[in-house]
Amino acid sequence: MRPPILLTDKNRRSPQTLARYRQDQGYQAIASALADTPPHRLVDLIEAAGLRGRGGARFPAATKWRLALEATAEQKYVVANGGEHEPGSDKDKFLVEHYPHKVIEGMLLCGFATGASRGWLYLIDNMAGPIASAQAAIDEARREGMLGEHIMGSSFSFDIEIHRAPMTYVAGEETAAIDSIEGGEGKPRSKPPYPGQSGVHGSPTTVNNVETLAHVPWIVQHGPENYAAIGTAESKGTMLFTLGSEVNRPGVYELPFGATYRQLIEECGGGITGGRAIRAVLPALSCAFLGAEHLDVPIGYETLAELGSSPGCGGVHLFLEGDDVVARVAKIAQFFMDEQCGQCPPCRMQTSQLAHVLKGVLSGVKGDYLGQMEKVAAFTRGKGDCSLIEMAAAPVLSGARLFGADFEAKAQ
Ligand SMILES: Cc1cc2nc3c(=O)[nH]c(=O)nc-3n(C[C@H](O)[C@H](O)[C@H](O)COP(=O)(O)O)c2cc1C
Ligand code: SF4
Repeated sequence: MRPPILLTDKNRRSPQTLARYRQDQGYQAIASALADTPPHRLVDLIEAAGLRGRGGARFPAATKWRLALEATAEQKYVVANGGEHEPGSDKDKFLVEHYPHKVIEGMLLCGFATGASRGWLYLIDNMAGPIASAQAAIDEARREGMLGEHIMGSSFSFDIEIHRAPMTYVAGEETAAIDSIEGGEGKPRSKPPYPGQSGVHGSPTTVNNVETLAHVPWIVQHGPENYAAIGTAESKGTMLFTLGSEVNRPGVYELPFGATYRQLIEECGGGITGGRAIRAVLPALSCAFLGAEHLDVPIGYETLAELGSSPGCGGVHLFLEGDDVVARVAKIAQFFMDEQCGQCPPCRMQTSQLAHVLKGVLSGVKGDYLGQMEKVAAFTRGKGDCSLIEMAAAPVLSGARLFGADFEAKAQ
């Protein structure tokens, strides 16, 4: 397996210090950018690397950065989104807690490329470990002249503060993050305008996932061609995955795109606890299921799209022989019903209908449960202020199709 880009210290259990980060050429990427890479060239580098968002929506990072760079405004901002609240995903918490300087340097590079002078590291209020680690790293970076006025003696000034987000799932959505930073409840806003056009207090704001930003220093240091050489045709670089208690070694792992779920489970996770057979992989809670026959498919945005799914944020759930798969799918539907924020009637209707139909299946009600759920999902698609409305339908509908026999058996 190739050397990691993000999780570079084997078995790291504590925050990486600035001194340790510097041993690996930490803050050299921002130093070289400040010395001789104009902002538009930095955006070109990110584009050539093929970096896409790791928050789940796989949007090209350079497209967002260019939008903010080309916007004319007195003030621009960066938001590093670490508002990870998805059950089964711990990679952002792990990254921020253990490698805070990688995220800070990524934010600096984004700020320099887009012309921003202020950034927020957006973390959930109850993330004690990541918040403490990030605050210590910000203080350390500020003391060493890597944050604040005239960074490294240049004309570039940039500072970061931590924003403590509410403990809700929707608060991780990018416009909800902007709303929370402005003092609101942390609920999504309809788009357009996009944050790169009008974000925090109406200023162009680049919102990227913390993992997306943490890839940037490596790209600048090692060259976009070397980054683009890792992965598959349309999915470049590496990605973080979270494995849960279904495997012998749960944790956060980094693999290049093109690796397979079998490799992730066997080589990283040490195989399934108790050796039970895998029936299906849910690449992340808001994605569609993959049957066990796809365990050897190279993981990539395009390869999983062909199968109707996506790598999502990499918080992997495994469905095993002997599991009550119907109950687990119903629990997912319940999660989305509980977490939708209530402001769009179609989303309220869809998520409660999906949960209601599945409750019926669990209690033995016969009928065209799949047809009912497909109908409500088709009717509500695209009718919410955020994509939670689509996120709920993907695992529920694909689960009902994949585990059709289990669903039928419940209705006997
Ligand atoms: C309901 C909901 C929750 C989300 N939660 C997160 C989150 O916790 N972290 C995150 O980075 N993106 C989350 N997103 C995606 C963000 O809206 C946005 O696409 C992302 O932060 C952009 O960063 P990226 O392009 O680097 O992935 C969420 C989206 C939705 C609809
Ligand atoms: S789609 Fe759902 S979660 Fe998103 S803003 Fe509307 S009600 Fe809230």
